[in-house]
Formats: sequence, C-alpha cells, structure tokens
Amino acid sequence: MENPGPPHPKMRQWKSRLPFRASTTASGGPWRGHGSVMVRRVPASVSPRILAVVDALPLRPDSRVLEIGCGPGAAARTVAARLGTGHILAVDRSAAAVDQARAGAAEAIAAGRMSVRRTAAQDFVLEPGEQPYDLVFAIRVGGLDGRHPEIGRRILERLAHATTPDARLFIDGGNPLRELSIPRS
Ligand SMILES: C[S@@+](CC[C@H](N)C(=O)[O-])C[C@H]1O[C@@H](n2cnc3c(N)ncnc32)[C@H](O)[C@@H]1O
Repeated sequence: MENPGPPHPKMRQWKSRLPFRASTTASGGPWRGHGSVMVRRVPASVSPRILAVVDALPLRPDSRVLEIGCGPGAAARTVAARLGTGHILAVDRSAAAVDQARAGAAEAIAAGRMSVRRTAAQDFVLEPGEQPYDLVFAIRVGGLDGRHPEIGRRILERLAHATTPDARLFIDGGNPLRELSIPRS
C-alpha cells in the first residue's frame, strides 16, 4: 500500500484531545493505517510537578482522598490509578475545569475510583451517605496558600466537617508539599 502521507489535521486535533496517547498501527510507515486509528490505552503523560506531588502524598490503597481545585484533573487521575478500594473526589469551582477533569477520567470514574464535583471548597459539604475523607490536597489554590485568608478559614471550617478526625491536609509550597492542620473545635 502506498504511504498516504500525514494524517488529516482534524485527526491530529482529535488525538490531541484524548486523555491518553493514541497510536496508529505500526506496520509500515508512521502514517500508514491512519484511516482506522488503533487506540492504545497508555496513561497520558503527567508533568514532573504533578508526579512529585502525588508521590509525596501518604496514599494507601484504601484512602479516601479529596482534591480541592483539581483543574483539568491530572493529579486526581494519577491518584486514582494508585488506589485499590479507595476513592478520590476531585472538586473545582470552575465548570470548565470540572468538565475537563471528567472527560479525562472516564475509566477511573466508571471503575468507581474517582468522582468529580463542581463546588467552591468554601461551600463543600458531604452529600447524604457520603463517607468523610482522610486525605485532602490542594495545589496552587489561592484559598489555601495564604493569598485569600478569609476564604482559607472558611475552607478549613468545611473540611473539619467533611474529614475523619485524623485526616491530613497538604498544599504546595513545601518540598514539594507542606502540611496544614485542620482545626477541630
Ligand atoms: C492554578 S489552578 C491549579 C490546578 C491544579 N491544582 C494544578 O496544580 O494544576 C487553580 C484551580 O483551583 C480552582 N479553585 C481556586 N479556588 C477554588 C476554590 N475556592 N474552590 C474550588 N476550586 C478552586 C480554580 O478554578 C482552578 O481550576
């Protein structure tokens, strides 16, 4: 078969939106077979920054993890891949971020290891029947890194009601994380 040349630009756009790497059949030239793309489920690459954060979290297979300000969900997806019976809930106040996080984590969500919710952390409440979380993290989220102290106070108040008594909270700005305490009254 004659090498048909590079893929149509529309296909390149489609592939770049996938949450995992898609590869074409390797037989023949690099572009061969692009009319029927073979998709390999290889986890999307995670930045060294996010990987360092996830590596530093005290995760257990059964952890119940809450990520505040998940953005497009790279860290949450990486955490979900390390959980067994545990669960991660990724929250963000932005509808666009939540949509992206959901779209990128269809497999983990279907497997029950991850869920995504749109809420501001200062309004976060457990839903009926939802179990409290034992590990919380927030990376580059202004409410918790000292940029917005009043919002930070309200978030901590909410977390006190949504976490187990021994839950731990981590934010960026350490090496790579630093721990904050969740005030208990
Ligand atoms: C700079 S981005 C960081 C995203 C991701 N954590 C990362 O490190 O790549 C901050 C994210 O936190 C979200 N965010 C900021 N304040 C928030 C709050 N009070 N409650 C929920 N989400 C918040 C923003 O919508 C945004 O998606």
